[in-house]
Amino acid sequence: CGIVGIIGTEFSIKELVDDLQKLEYRGYDSAGIAFYKDGSIVVQKATGKISNLRDQITNFNTSVGIAHTRWATHGAPTDENAHPHTDCTGKIAIVHNGIIENYAEIKEELKRKGHKFKSETDTEVIAHLIEENFEGDLYKAVLKSVKMLKGAYAIVVMHSDMKDTLVAARKGSPLVLGRAENKVILASDVTPIIKYTKDVVFLEDGDVALLKNGEYKITDVNGNIVLRKVYHIDWDEASAEKGGYKHFMLKEINEEPEAIESAFVGRITNEGPILTELKEFNLEKVEKIKLVACGTSYHAGLVFKYFLEKHSNIDVEVDVASEFRYRNIHIDDKTLVIAISQSGETADTLESVRLVKSKGARVVAISNVVGSTITRESDVTILMNAGPEIGVAATKTYVNQLVVLYILGMYILKEQNMWNEEVEKDFEFLKKAPEIFRKLLNDINLEEYAAYYKNYHHFMYIGRGINYPSALEGALKLKEISYINATAYPAGELKHGPIALLDPTFPVFAIAPKDRLFEKTKSNIEESKARKSRIISVTNESNKDLEGISDDIIYVPDSPEDMYPLTISPVIQLFAYLIADMRGYDPDKPRNLAKSVTVE
Ligand code: G6P
Repeated sequence: CGIVGIIGTEFSIKELVDDLQKLEYRGYDSAGIAFYKDGSIVVQKATGKISNLRDQITNFNTSVGIAHTRWATHGAPTDENAHPHTDCTGKIAIVHNGIIENYAEIKEELKRKGHKFKSETDTEVIAHLIEENFEGDLYKAVLKSVKMLKGAYAIVVMHSDMKDTLVAARKGSPLVLGRAENKVILASDVTPIIKYTKDVVFLEDGDVALLKNGEYKITDVNGNIVLRKVYHIDWDEASAEKGGYKHFMLKEINEEPEAIESAFVGRITNEGPILTELKEFNLEKVEKIKLVACGTSYHAGLVFKYFLEKHSNIDVEVDVASEFRYRNIHIDDKTLVIAISQSGETADTLESVRLVKSKGARVVAISNVVGSTITRESDVTILMNAGPEIGVAATKTYVNQLVVLYILGMYILKEQNMWNEEVEKDFEFLKKAPEIFRKLLNDINLEEYAAYYKNYHHFMYIGRGINYPSALEGALKLKEISYINATAYPAGELKHGPIALLDPTFPVFAIAPKDRLFEKTKSNIEESKARKSRIISVTNESNKDLEGISDDIIYVPDSPEDMYPLTISPVIQLFAYLIADMRGYDPDKPRNLAKSVTVE
């Protein structure tokens, strides 16, 4: 989601919408504004793109307004669920980015006190909570309210009795503040701000900001002043949209730690993994799971298969949707179907869902887009919560698919009493994934490798077991955006044909962490080397067994063997990204591909 708030000398609401437009890349299923007019607050909303909102508004000059573009998390993308949300009196308006975990409890309590709700959103609950805590001072009411919230939020709030005041708070979702000569502007990132000023303050978790009479003060939730550094941003507007990165793809890879954290909310608990979405699903009875997906989502499904089969007696089958839908699929009451689609709109995957639903199957969708067709047609949806992904080649959504599928696998193991020590270690590792990703993304430098390998015309990716899907995904990423003929095989299958291709013009990218199959993979690397292929490997940092065998080695942190597909993801993504960029292609918009393929 994207948020903007402006207070100061008069500005037109069209300008507010223009500023909001700069955040459209953060989500675009509905948009809205609230502004001060003659002693009250006017709210206008529209589903769909921000241009729909623009078409609907009559211009007006005001001195305070807030705006929001939504990427739905709670509730479908409708006018009612669009932000800003208001309280019972209509005097308080709020925009929010994030997810409030305890909103249902607060809502119940507020309902008992007589509050009436108009939407299904967690955000509206905050508006009513602030109303409940309001005693003439909006800032104090916000302080009191945010202390009661669990989860993530960036909020901006206004009150019709206080036209000189805006209050904002942040925990877990970004919020930036900039003071221009006669205005103070708040936004989810610097993009809408830099036209006003290039000097900005990044609010930190726990910060509450009071904007009044062209000034601002930042405090903690107890009202104690905190000092925040003012940063000077040199970006122009176009690079600001990409967070200063050259491409969305690079930005989105770097957003993976944050994306993983969002996927965790409410699911990683002290009692282990929990998916409340599946509470009614009788998972303890499941004996067969069929996964269906396309492209990158299919690879995520394969990782799930290796993981769950290893630790359970459940038969797991994965199919690409364009095949699955034409097969004779057998469904019984012990079968669960999982359809994975980042966009939720892929035609073949949707048809597969319809097919199995007609046979009486129960379908769990895994998607990143609330309200997408797959979420409406499946029995339940597990949302990936990766935030919008603009780059056509999936990166952070692949990582979040893996995260959500690991959580699902672990949850099933728990429900079936098959939780074991190894899974416990996997779970402990998973919890640390955001930190591990942060360090990995900070430390990794693949430029030299990319510069060297960019001129090859072919690539053979190999991997075994749970890392065979990593080989498939690595090859897919490379061919999608750099147009190099990359192919992937299970390492052990190399000798049954593809090895005939290998020669010095055909390098091998080996996914070879030190797992229980490592010695076997190592033999396959040796076989490739004997055919004079250049070898580039990815392995874990404590494993030195490839030195002297592999020409180039990329190291990732030591991980439990089930978890390597996760830690290896940024490596295969960055490698493909850098090569595409160095070859002069735009990684965000690869030729012949679309972000969501709605044709069969
Ligand atoms: C398209 C995209 C792929 C994606 C696939 C499945 O082909 O180019 O990157 O993996 O669709 O998309 P979905 O939205 O269903 O996950």
